[in-house]
Amino acid sequence: MMEWTDRHCRTFHRALSRKAWLYTEMVTTQAILHGNLERLLGRGDEGERVVLQLGGNDPAALAQCARLAQTFGYQAVNLNCGCPSDRVLQGAFGACLMARPSLVAEGIAAMKDAVSIPVTVKHRIGLDHVEDYAFVRDFIGTVGQAGCSHFIVHARNAWLDGLSPKENREIPPLRPEVVYRLAKDFPAYSFEINGGLQTLAQGLEAASGLAGAMFGRAAYHQPYLLTEVDSTPAVSRSEVVEAMVAYLVAQRAAGVEVRHLARHMLGLYHGEPAARRWRRMLSDSELLAANDPGLLLGARDALETAARRGLAEAA
Ligand SMILES: Cc1cc2nc3c(=O)[nH]c(=O)nc-3n(C[C@H](O)[C@H](O)[C@H](O)COP(=O)(O)O)c2cc1C
Repeated sequence: MMEWTDRHCRTFHRALSRKAWLYTEMVTTQAILHGNLERLLGRGDEGERVVLQLGGNDPAALAQCARLAQTFGYQAVNLNCGCPSDRVLQGAFGACLMARPSLVAEGIAAMKDAVSIPVTVKHRIGLDHVEDYAFVRDFIGTVGQAGCSHFIVHARNAWLDGLSPKENREIPPLRPEVVYRLAKDFPAYSFEINGGLQTLAQGLEAASGLAGAMFGRAAYHQPYLLTEVDSTPAVSRSEVVEAMVAYLVAQRAAGVEVRHLARHMLGLYHGEPAARRWRRMLSDSELLAANDPGLLLGARDALETAARRGLAEAA
């Protein structure tokens, strides 16, 4: 997710789950081919099961960027056919590519030729107000023939006629039944469902008969839910904080600052009594300006002390 799932965020999420597949922000082929590769593609401490998502429409550029994804050690590369932002529309990629399945197929074929890692597509179920199933079915048919066999489906249309990206994640209605129909019509392909999932239980239910479920906003705002993905006992919040302090200390020489990571950790204590205090400390500009990883430990200890005091008072 743009501005959210950068390498520091992914490192944090990896500390919560060894098993979950993590996705980068969408990175455009233009940026990669003309920009600083280490900044755009460099990895944190996020280990394996990380997918680079590309935005673009030129088959040769997509192939070159897929090659770089493989070189930088990503386990898969994904093409964005779901982003509805104006900037993306002007570049003629993202969601509007759903109207150009043959171009997507060319891009997929070029990427597949270039790499041995899986090449996948994330898309919507339709554009604007057209709810004709044949549209998304033919999209999958064409793109599948080019060699893509794994699709992540954000189960709502993208309305390209005036909604902001945020509204486009909320207003077009979710129609999960379309994803199940695709899975039935294309048994050789695997499908993941995305959109509106809040809890792991909901995700498991929605993924029934599919290859999986993708969490966006809930995973970011309530990251501790990621611990439920693994079958092993959940790592504690406190252990995660310690792991992140070690990461910050190790990355200090590379110029990583506490604020680069802390902003992604605001939701760690979501639902806990002291969540507000944690958020306040981690977003305090003066505390962040000191750039001391100990801030995370201090905030954790303040929470734990408050919790113990609460327990003692309740006893
Ligand atoms: C801040 C933000 C940035 C996003 N950036 C991307 C992106 O770069 N690529 C993408 O495929 N989807 C992006 N999305 C959409 C999410 O991946 C997801 O499809 C959408 O939020 C619906 O899932 P959810 O209800 O679980 O959040 C973004 C969403 C948010 C909130």
